[in-house]
Amino acid sequence: MSVVIVVGAQWGDEGKGKVVDLYAEAADTVVRYGGGANAGHTLVIKGQKLVTHLVPSGVCHPGKPCVLGDGMVIDPHTLLEEIAELSARGLLANGELLIGQDAHVILPYHKRIEQLREGRKGAIGTTRRGIGPAYEAKAGRRGVRIRDLFRRERLRELVDANLEELVPVMQHFGGAAPTAAEVAQWIDEAATAGERLRPHVGDASRFVADKIGRGANVLFEGAQGTLLDIDHGTYPFVTSSSTIAAGACQSTGIGPSKIDRVVGITKAYATRVGAGPFPTELHGDAAEALRQAGGEFGATTGRPRRCGWLDLPALRLGVRLSGMDGLALTKLDVLANMPEVKVCVAYKLDGREVDELPTDLDDIARAEPVFASYPGWGSLAGVTQFDDLPTTTRQYVDTVQRLAGVPFYLVSVGPDRAETIVLSDPFRD
Ligand code: IMP
Repeated sequence: MSVVIVVGAQWGDEGKGKVVDLYAEAADTVVRYGGGANAGHTLVIKGQKLVTHLVPSGVCHPGKPCVLGDGMVIDPHTLLEEIAELSARGLLANGELLIGQDAHVILPYHKRIEQLREGRKGAIGTTRRGIGPAYEAKAGRRGVRIRDLFRRERLRELVDANLEELVPVMQHFGGAAPTAAEVAQWIDEAATAGERLRPHVGDASRFVADKIGRGANVLFEGAQGTLLDIDHGTYPFVTSSSTIAAGACQSTGIGPSKIDRVVGITKAYATRVGAGPFPTELHGDAAEALRQAGGEFGATTGRPRRCGWLDLPALRLGVRLSGMDGLALTKLDVLANMPEVKVCVAYKLDGREVDELPTDLDDIARAEPVFASYPGWGSLAGVTQFDDLPTTTRQYVDTVQRLAGVPFYLVSVGPDRAETIVLSDPFRD
């Protein structure tokens, strides 16, 4: 048996969905930890595309329990919509979904306050899904949890207490105070959504612990990426949850000793959504070429993603922060037919060469990327063995592996499951 965490090694959008889908085959249970509807996974079910934000990508494997960890912040309406869409496609038909009863709830006022804040100068470019305000309420010990949705009086008290603090802030930002009728409607809709979700709600921590105790393969699915971690990412340009691998333990109440493997997912290049440092960023035509080739538009917001070369010092930091045993390299095919492929191998900072992305924003601003350059390579279509990759591609991959400091579990050369070079299996090896 094995317990495996899959975690983004960069700033999110690394292609975790495909890797989770592959690994879910061997897993008994798939557990999403951290974040909320800020994430977006594009699933292809019977030839039709569907974007999920909350339900783990493992949902495509009928019969496997899909758990939403207690560390998540859940918008009940978004979740109900996802359940309806997945059910219409014949999924979640066997009671597979389990929602942690202590997960926090995103309410309309969280989104409203975030929209007001994000409209101001210096905004960080969030997904506006209410993630930050919901985690603020949680840390402030005034959050609404899923279990509170079943007690209408308690729900009302919590919402009233929250609004007492938040309405002056909304007004300060130029927003209107919600009317009494509006607040009553929010409470009513949340309670109704809670009742509809209730059959899926339970003790997720105990459920996952029991699975592990019985020797089942459990797959933890991270959201966002290691460098967006609230404690260790490029703060303040981060999300509000623990996106590093340790977040899986934190979110689900599973001790670190139970984890067997951590697989980091990195794209063969880099992207970032929203504001924040991105030293290897490309601009103009070069960025646009990568964006179009990789389809780099947000699955949640549709925003064009910022694109640039792979940053190995940033990847090394990610490997260290999440204790990755190995990596899955995704979207290598996107670099095919580029006239030149570059990769940042180190930084020059104040005359010194550094091998990890600095953690101080001023240091990052002064750090100069040192690039290695490779001649472009042709199509990778049909390649399923590492040795069949073009020589320059192999050299590129070898450099990434050597400087990241950990081996590859797989290399992905296309969106399809079959377009994967499997080097080892985290559930077995
Ligand atoms: P929030 O999570 O909506 O609060 O956004 C905070 C920062 O994290 C912003 O820069 C977002 O663009 C970024 N972010 C949040 N979720 C994702 C994701 O799933 N992929 C990429 N970036 C994300």
